[in-house]
Amino acid sequence: MSKSHYQSPRGTRDILPEEAEKWRWTLNSFAELAQRFGYGQVISPMFEDLGVFLRLGEDTEVVSKEMFTFQDKDPKAPQDLALRPELTASICRAFAQHRPTTPWKVWYEGPQFRYEKPQAGRFRQFVQVGAEIIGEEDPAADIEIITLAWKFYESLGLEHITLLINSLGNRETRGAYNRELSAYLSAASGSLSAQSRETLAKNPLRVLDSKREEDLEIISAAPTIQDFLSPEDGNHFESVCDGLTSVGIPFVVSPRLVRGLDYYTRTTFEFAADKLQTAQNAVGGGGRYDGLIEELGGPPTQGIGFALGVDRILLACEAEGLELGDSKPLDVFVVDLTGGSQATQITNEIRDHGFSADRSFGNRSIKAQMKVADRSGALFAIIVGDDELEKNEVTLRDLRGDGSQERVSRSNLVNALAASLKERYSQ
Ligand code: HAM
Repeated sequence: MSKSHYQSPRGTRDILPEEAEKWRWTLNSFAELAQRFGYGQVISPMFEDLGVFLRLGEDTEVVSKEMFTFQDKDPKAPQDLALRPELTASICRAFAQHRPTTPWKVWYEGPQFRYEKPQAGRFRQFVQVGAEIIGEEDPAADIEIITLAWKFYESLGLEHITLLINSLGNRETRGAYNRELSAYLSAASGSLSAQSRETLAKNPLRVLDSKREEDLEIISAAPTIQDFLSPEDGNHFESVCDGLTSVGIPFVVSPRLVRGLDYYTRTTFEFAADKLQTAQNAVGGGGRYDGLIEELGGPPTQGIGFALGVDRILLACEAEGLELGDSKPLDVFVVDLTGGSQATQITNEIRDHGFSADRSFGNRSIKAQMKVADRSGALFAIIVGDDELEKNEVTLRDLRGDGSQERVSRSNLVNALAASLKERYSQ
């Protein structure tokens, strides 16, 4: 067979059935957990008015370099649109549009799009799960949000996740800190890497993110935002830390933790998977964004949330040797040697009773059909030949155990299958 000359676009990939099963299981686990915490799902559009995403910060890489933008085709009302690079802005836009009662506790899942340089764990289309609490300032909301993310990692069996946490204070704090940091970094700029010098001109905070050797010493001596926090913000942060301790969630206060998006205020956090390469080890992140909804045309409203990268979480699970999912083998494969209509009826009947069933098509030989049955991983085969058809019976064969088989009457087929499966699962 010649290979198709079309490939999935750079930075995207196909998740094929075996792997997709792990995805479905992981996404379901998150949905169940979020519902258990009292969050409801929001399904919002995959694209929005570009203006919604400009609120992430025009100097951030996400906005300045990575946005997939396009124009609406309406010649009378051309509108700049963009594929969503994240969901917090969309959720805040939805809140400002619908004005639900607060606290509005919501969760979401779905693909995000960023025009990034693809590498291991970094894609142009990737999936996030996330949650937000809109309209609540109480540090207990911060604690609950972080707990939800933490319990999710725990539910997958991940043991090597580090929670890094910081407070960015309010907008004034950030402004004052930015000025101080900028002055400090400018004085040391001769020793900074060329890339960091460029970043410094646009967004001094992002220099703290540099992992380049020549920058590390300068960064480690940089002023920290903790010294600029107002007493209220300092107390808020202390309550969050105390609360996390009280529910047994370990964390590392990381005073130089800055995030890639500009909307953050007060609590910010990131989850690092210690078993992944450092460049792509962030398996989730989030924080407060107390001014974002107002900027999107809503009333002044606080918000806090997180998003977790499912692609990377699955890589982290693999790195920790975890087997995800609870997939069960197929219950039965129907082999019909009488033309195919028996297989149509029997699979239908079995599936209606809640069992899984498959069959082959095209009236193939018994040898060919038994081969497919075996490859399907089915526990049992139901075989219908001319003799069975004449006597209104079927043959039920054990494919995984001792290969034994019995004749059962057609009318008792479902009961016989149920009994055999029960026996198999009790062994
Ligand atoms: P973020 O840090 O940009 O935050 O993304 C969250 C997570 O998405 C990352 O930690 C990572 O696991 C995953 N991720 C990001 N970019 C990629 C990529 N190119 N390939 C694979 N995975 C990726 C946000 O998106 C915020 N909306 C989080 C938030 C919610 N803040 C408040 N509420």
